[in-house]
Amino acid sequence: MYSGFSLELLQQILCPIDAGALVLEGALQDPVLNGCARCVRCGLLYRVESGILILLEHQQKLMDPESVREAEARDVDAENYHTYCSEVGDRKEIPPTLCMLGELEGKRVLELGCGTGRYSVYLAGRSASFTGVDFSLDSLKLLAAAMPQGGRRGLVLADATKFQTSPHSFDLVLCAQVLQHVPTAALREDLYRHVAQQLTPGGVFVCNAYHHHLSWRMQGLPKEGRHESGIFYHRFTRKELTEEIGRHLIVRKSHPISVHIPFSGRLGLNDLWLSRVVERVPLLNNLGELMLVKAKKGEVAADGETTFSEEV
Ligand SMILES: C[S@@+](CC[C@H](N)C(=O)[O-])C[C@H]1O[C@@H](n2cnc3c(N)ncnc32)[C@H](O)[C@@H]1O
Ligand SMILES: [Zn+2]
Repeated sequence: MYSGFSLELLQQILCPIDAGALVLEGALQDPVLNGCARCVRCGLLYRVESGILILLEHQQKLMDPESVREAEARDVDAENYHTYCSEVGDRKEIPPTLCMLGELEGKRVLELGCGTGRYSVYLAGRSASFTGVDFSLDSLKLLAAAMPQGGRRGLVLADATKFQTSPHSFDLVLCAQVLQHVPTAALREDLYRHVAQQLTPGGVFVCNAYHHHLSWRMQGLPKEGRHESGIFYHRFTRKELTEEIGRHLIVRKSHPISVHIPFSGRLGLNDLWLSRVVERVPLLNNLGELMLVKAKKGEVAADGETTFSEEV
């Protein structure tokens, strides 16, 4: 069970309206379970309830109507989220995504759109600190219940496209299966812009999102649509996703994952094994249902040039 918001992490978070610093009010214990933080610029008061910092209340009037609808739908369905994920699906997606993130030990990790914690519990258990952001309170409550006690952790109820922290607060940022639901390119760009600020120089951003994959295209299905729950989605081409991220960070790797070969079951082939092999095979990997991208924030050398010290 989550024991509350680590004071050190809470102090990095800025007001989502004007990026003012948040000052905690009253005598607080570390970690913070219940309390208040006031923005030094606009004076707005943000509550911490059961260790969850509530930024959303004051963001809601600025949110896109699609996002407001999604947040409501996520709350309604939070308890069932795990039933939409299959064991094979997770095994196709999670290991290659974690592999792109790299070593977690000693790293300050931020997860945007953490949901009920399919990645979060693993990340929190292995990193120096973990901050999870989502706009579904019911999802965060489930994650809080699943989180092991102790450690430097923080959960934030916020729209990730407007979430801001002090610069260089994180070494790694993960955004898994979220970007497809952000309704406009302009909002996604807001998210990347904030990530570029949040990351330390040399820090890593990893995301996966729905791919506009070959079988989908061959069936003539549209790039955008809605799930039964009403939640909007957009399927990305590799070029589209890497170009939009590339305007804010330096894209180092990208390839489709979660490959499903039609009729593999009928042919007696192991779908998981095939996916792992085929995700590295050009052209064939166009069948991958998710695009996986790794990007880095450049390191600024003394002469002001942006460089990378290592090849990844
Ligand atoms: C498909 S779920 C993925 C959850 C988790 N990352 C995982 O891989 O299991 C998408 C999550 O992103 C959250 N989300 C979508 N757009 C968001 C936004 N703009 N700000 C915060 N959370 C968002 C939803 O509430 C939901 O929990
Ligand atoms: Zn403010």
